Amino acid sequence: MLHVLVLGSAAGGGLPQWNCNCDLCRRARDKNDTAVTPRTQSSLAISKGNGEWFLLNASPDLRKQINDNPELQSSSGRRHSPITGVLLTNADVDHIAGLLNLRESQPFVVYATSRVHSVLAANSVFNVLNPQFVERKEFSLGVPIELTDRRGNPIGITVDTFAVPGKVALYLEDPNAKNFGSAPEDTVALKVTDTSTGEYFCYVPGCASMPADLADRLRGAPLVFFDGTVWVDDEMKSTGTGVKTGSRMGHMHLSGEDGTIAAFADLDVKRKIFVHINNTNPVLADDSRERAFVEEAGWEIGFDGMRVTL
Ligand code: MLT
Ligand code: MN
Ligand code: ZN
Repeated sequence: MLHVLVLGSAAGGGLPQWNCNCDLCRRARDKNDTAVTPRTQSSLAISKGNGEWFLLNASPDLRKQINDNPELQSSSGRRHSPITGVLLTNADVDHIAGLLNLRESQPFVVYATSRVHSVLAANSVFNVLNPQFVERKEFSLGVPIELTDRRGNPIGITVDTFAVPGKVALYLEDPNAKNFGSAPEDTVALKVTDTSTGEYFCYVPGCASMPADLADRLRGAPLVFFDGTVWVDDEMKSTGTGVKTGSRMGHMHLSGEDGTIAAFADLDVKRKIFVHINNTNPVLADDSRERAFVEEAGWEIGFDGMRVTL
């Protein structure tokens, strides 16, 4: 069995975001408003049930996420962590900053593409991950990797990495280059397979469009966690929170003929869950018509602490 735990279901900034007073952030702060629940930033954790967990992205809220989820907490000897590894899908702040919470001399493995590893290598603050204890391993597009436990034995999870349309991290954008200098290895998705049962899920927390090859890859999947950043492309503008569109940030929008819900309509994905949801997205309110619409369309809105077993 493959256990999946949603540690953080919000996009960068979380819900509420520190400097945001939009309707949803305000409602999330209001303890009496139970229809908008606070959310931490984008991350999942996976396990085969052997007491070891791999994080899919490490969010700046990782400390809270560990404290909220007993299975990730230290529980034997004086120093111990069930976190055996971290797999990164891009170098965005909301996906890598949590690595800094994992400092101290604790062994684990960080998997990322060579592009993302080069970002970590270029930022010396990540040297707090002592190379004596923290191994940095590369995943290459199209080359499956077998996750191993602390003793180096395969745990029965295979991960395939594939590029998806996206954008280089905000702080690395080159304003003069095509698509800000983005390369295929900047934004990847993961297909995580239980090798004993063949059951799998795809994790796509950031995606700018749905080309035919991506649609083919997702078609018929038992479970997909997908980019739920914005409801409409100009949402930051219409909510008065910013000027960037979803597409400028490398994210599809959920609604409309060219949106994610429409793009999945014929893909026959058994279970579809939105994650990486921005605090401006009206689906975050349990009582919104947009929430009713996505659920009617067969989607679930991921939430912190959500558990799925495959
Ligand atoms: C994104 O998903 O677009 C980024 O996380 C935005 C950011 O870096 O704040
Ligand atoms: Mn993000
Ligand atoms: Zn907000």
